[in-house]
Amino acid sequence: MPAKLIVGTQWGDEGKAKVIDYLAKETEIVVRYQGGANAGHTVKVGEDKYIFRLIPSGILYPRTICVLGGGMVIDPDAMFAEIEELEAKGIHVAGRLRIADNAHLLMPYHKEIDVLTEEASGAHKIGTTKRGIGACYSDKVNRQGIRISMLYNESFYTEILPRLIEQKNNFLTKVYNAKPVVFETIKEKLLTLREKIRDMVINVPYYLNMELASGKQILLEGAQGTMLDLDFGTYPYVTSSNPTTGGALAGSGISFRYLEDVIGICKAYSTRVGEGPYPTEIFGEEGEALRKAGNEFGSVTGRPRRCGWFDVEVVRHAARINGLSALALTKIDVLDNLETIKVATGYELNGKRIDYFPSCSVNDVKVIYEEFPGWQEPTSHITKLKNLPKNTRKYIDALAKYCGVPIQWISVGPGRESTIALK
Ligand code: IMP
Repeated sequence: MPAKLIVGTQWGDEGKAKVIDYLAKETEIVVRYQGGANAGHTVKVGEDKYIFRLIPSGILYPRTICVLGGGMVIDPDAMFAEIEELEAKGIHVAGRLRIADNAHLLMPYHKEIDVLTEEASGAHKIGTTKRGIGACYSDKVNRQGIRISMLYNESFYTEILPRLIEQKNNFLTKVYNAKPVVFETIKEKLLTLREKIRDMVINVPYYLNMELASGKQILLEGAQGTMLDLDFGTYPYVTSSNPTTGGALAGSGISFRYLEDVIGICKAYSTRVGEGPYPTEIFGEEGEALRKAGNEFGSVTGRPRRCGWFDVEVVRHAARINGLSALALTKIDVLDNLETIKVATGYELNGKRIDYFPSCSVNDVKVIYEEFPGWQEPTSHITKLKNLPKNTRKYIDALAKYCGVPIQWISVGPGRESTIALK
């Protein structure tokens, strides 16, 4: 069965793009299935660094077809900026990008509403990426969104769009005292857009299931991570989509029967951007040192990421929900200089041991740690498991045992070559 799925097991930024890039070379089609330009998937090829926001990183392989799935919210300005940037670097996107006709369009007013909502939330803000994600998905769920297929229906411009804009303007002006948007400007923008993307828009479930039936290999690329999942993450401090396996099926339209492997990506420690509970967060100088060693700054927003120890309960939660068949452990080299490494191996809540990630009261859990001796030698140059220091191997074995999922890849640096395959 030819579909593989890559999901983040923590709070995003696990290094998914690197593993996707590693697997994409043997894949014909790569599909993003949720989220929007809030993602920042970084791939390093030699001295070149590419940051992907909307377009699957598989585009770096000249024969790969890349698909923006129906579960996505697509900001056309961000998409065309990304296409231009790639074309300028010699990566030809034309003819290799497909867009789902059931994906939703993210409009400038969604970004504005995201910013205004965050500002109005004061101490309760989410710490979003300000890319309009929540506002766009709210419209989708509220049946006030703009599906790409609607652009090709003439009555949309006379019957639906005027009502949508009127509702949006009521909201903008009455709730936020902001400027209204102009119907004609939006209509013109959409009419121009529909011609620019006409050749790329397809029925994605039809296309993907046909290709799968004919034996093609497909890679599904998740953005963000399980702990940012709207249903299974640390709600309300989450994104507005489902990065998990259920979201991959709903956001691509492929039948679950085609899903062969679900590969969970986790950092050898953990990070989180934005607000919200984070049981293993490291504060002060120790946290700062890890942030510096791992260069933990958001690739989209530049914000410093919060850093913490590896949390087994988090990855077990991800394994359960996603049905993980394997793990890829990234950024092991960031721990090279540490004398001791802590791992959260369990939680206590109200004085009782629990063996699940709680849906609420996360701030009240007492974390149980186990300490591992560091290896204090560089690992970035190593290409074989047997050459890793003994303590590194012990650390990796312990994580696999605690998480209950085999580790199939280890990444020891940002480059394509710095990946150790374990089988
Ligand atoms: P939004 O997705 O912009 O609405 O942001 C909601 C939460 O998800 C915030 O805490 C963001 O920092 C976080 N977030 C969104 N996208 C990413 C990502 O790609 N990596 C890490 N965190 C993300």
